[in-house]
Amino acid sequence: MYIPEEKISEILNTSDIVDVISETVILKKSGRNFFGLCPFHSEKTPSFSVNASKQIFHCFGCTAGGNVLSFIMKYHGITFPEAAKMLARRYNITIETKEIDPAKRRELHLKEGLFRLNKTVMGVYFDELKNLNPGDKASKYLKQRDISEDIIQQFRLGFAPDNWESIVKVLRDRKISKNMAVQCGLILERKQKTGYYDRFRNRIMFPIFDVNMQVAGFGGRVMDDAMPKYMNSPETPVYNKSRILYGLHAAKQFCRQAGFVYIVEGYFDFLSLYQHGIKNTVASLGTALTPDHVRILKGYASRIVLVFDSDAAGISAAKRSIKIFLKEGVDTRVLVLPEGDDPDSYVVKHGHEAFNELAKNAKTIMQFLLQVSIDTHGLSVEGRIRILDDMKQQLILIQDSALRSLYVKELAETLNIDEKAVLEKVRELYLNRTAKRSSLIDEKKDDDKLESDRREEQMISLMLNYPEIIDEIKNREVLDYFYSEKLKRIAKKIISVDPGKKAFITDVMARMETNEDQEFIASYAMNDSASEDIRKTALSLMNRIIRVRTKQENTLNSKIISAEKGCDSDLMDLLKQKQAEIQQLHDRF
Ligand code: CTP
Ligand code: MN
Repeated sequence: MYIPEEKISEILNTSDIVDVISETVILKKSGRNFFGLCPFHSEKTPSFSVNASKQIFHCFGCTAGGNVLSFIMKYHGITFPEAAKMLARRYNITIETKEIDPAKRRELHLKEGLFRLNKTVMGVYFDELKNLNPGDKASKYLKQRDISEDIIQQFRLGFAPDNWESIVKVLRDRKISKNMAVQCGLILERKQKTGYYDRFRNRIMFPIFDVNMQVAGFGGRVMDDAMPKYMNSPETPVYNKSRILYGLHAAKQFCRQAGFVYIVEGYFDFLSLYQHGIKNTVASLGTALTPDHVRILKGYASRIVLVFDSDAAGISAAKRSIKIFLKEGVDTRVLVLPEGDDPDSYVVKHGHEAFNELAKNAKTIMQFLLQVSIDTHGLSVEGRIRILDDMKQQLILIQDSALRSLYVKELAETLNIDEKAVLEKVRELYLNRTAKRSSLIDEKKDDDKLESDRREEQMISLMLNYPEIIDEIKNREVLDYFYSEKLKRIAKKIISVDPGKKAFITDVMARMETNEDQEFIASYAMNDSASEDIRKTALSLMNRIIRVRTKQENTLNSKIISAEKGCDSDLMDLLKQKQAEIQQLHDRF
């Protein structure tokens, strides 16, 4: 698929980066930029910035950056044309695409096909449920579990009949490819290769939507004690379990409003809470939470409340996922329900007010872990030492040092151990670990190169923020004096854009071919330390760049010439070698 240059410009000029990013990152205006928590690395204080007039984003923490298209690509893990298409759709821009990469095209085609098929099959299961009699097992089951008509309707719950070939038959009747259905995980081939059979039989069906409301997969529950209780779609090109959260498509607006999100485990937990008006909820579907899940949620809420059953499985699930939250630095609370209840049964029994009341007392992660550790080891002298050993493993995972010291204090108080001793234990473990890591990193610096890079980068920053200077740069051929080949290449692309254009940065950005170059441009365009007299600064920087290089080369050249004259060929070789080394040093990236 090839999208013409003009279309890309149209898309870039029509779209608004603040609008687009606001959908996934909570942005607050501060000065000329918007700031929020970076979706690409873990952080507690916002270093992710978006500039509306330049239409770029840049993270001061992890250096991710670029334009609206690079954001969408990176955020959704999709390709450039996919991102362009997504934006085009959003802004009602039609694109006629030309074919280019057959493999990519096939992949896109496949995904579209899989989504379409899932949607069709969702309709089939939905109708099956609709057409049942109130006395049928599936209808009775949902009623008995207090699931309302509205919820069935909104979340398109369905029923897979007790039949080995009901989807197989639908496919046959509608002449849909079996192969697609196999790839969706809806049917499987019989062992003797004599045909196909349905994966989901005699189950209540839950379609799993992605954030864009496309049907990515299904889960199906039996209506009695048969095993397995739940059957799920396998991973497919459209169902990535490490990224999908059940219910997020519906919950996202409520997470924004509430500022926090409950994470529960199951389909029924989600549906019951939602039905009872607790709509800022998503379900992890029993799988372990991943850093991707957490990063996605960070875009919708600043606090996460993990809701767990009080049984051993619930506690160990909590302990497992907590590591991720500590590392990602999100404000996370843990709500352990009274014994014997899960979120579904609790809210059905006690209602939403009782649930919200309970949630107010959700523990911080450290309080929770400490409680678990105390329950395990007791508070005897030996117990407290074990607890300390347990807790220090968790404490070193906290990236934010202020937060860490607060927890250390809390821990010291609870265990009645001197705070310094606790701190010492944590530091010991921390140093131990970092020592191992840093011995592998070689921190060599080349001052010369750093100096020249800094000048050349500053020049680029000035070119981006003060394009009026570009004519002067062309006239004096300043770029020929750049040491760094990379910076020279980037600067040449910048000066090839008409500096008088309104969407100058947007155009420059569109010309950058690699992600790395885009990030680079974003960071320097954002970094406009506007000086009083920007023109004067630019001119004097130009002079310096030219002067330093001319001087160094003159010195070397004159040495080479005199060595030549004196027939000192050893010295000449040495000098030439030095000349080559200098160039190499600057070319290296
Ligand atoms: N799960 C699964 N496969 C299983 C069991 C569980 O995929 N064999 C997933 C389902 O997404 C389920 C979630 O893990 O919703 C939580 O499982 P569990 O606590 O056992 O079930 P509940 O959600 O409480 O299910 P129910 O209330 O229907 O008994
Ligand atoms: Mn349950």
